[in-house]
Amino acid sequence: MTSSLFLLLALVLPALTLAIDLKPYNETAHGMFISTDSNMDGVLSRDELDATFKGYDTNGDGRVSRHEYTSFVDLHSPTLHSLSHALYDIYDVDGDHHLDKHDYDNFYALIDGDGDGTVEEIEFIKYWSVLFVNLEHLHGHNGR
Ligand SMILES: *[C@@H]1O[C@H](CO)[C@@H](O)[C@H](O)[C@H]1NC(C)=O
Repeated sequence: MTSSLFLLLALVLPALTLAIDLKPYNETAHGMFISTDSNMDGVLSRDELDATFKGYDTNGDGRVSRHEYTSFVDLHSPTLHSLSHALYDIYDVDGDHHLDKHDYDNFYALIDGDGDGTVEEIEFIKYWSVLFVNLEHLHGHNGR
């Protein structure tokens, strides 16, 4: 899943967090959307979201454990360790310590701000921009 949102998080966030600067958040989110919207139709489909998470299911059991997810992130950047746990907690909407279809349904609904069943880029950017603000205590903010 080289084009996945999470790979992008793993590859882009560390470079940015080293500079302690994800801002502007909406531009960071825009880059994530571009890499996740694999058919480039301006919409994040459920299939595209599922494909992203599937990329983290290293043992192929159909769900993503915290270990699978954080190991993936740690492999690409240990500096993201604390952020990866926070993101996992957000993805694990039902809190059962496994990411599976139920969580993807819920997560998709979270991003779908207007609740029309489709995630447009503007909704994606809005969701992640708020999330980055909420996670500032983890990735830091330098006020620039
Ligand atoms: C991000 O926000 C700035 C300021 O509101 C705006 O000028 C820019 O077009 C936005 N970028 C994206 C990708 O939405």
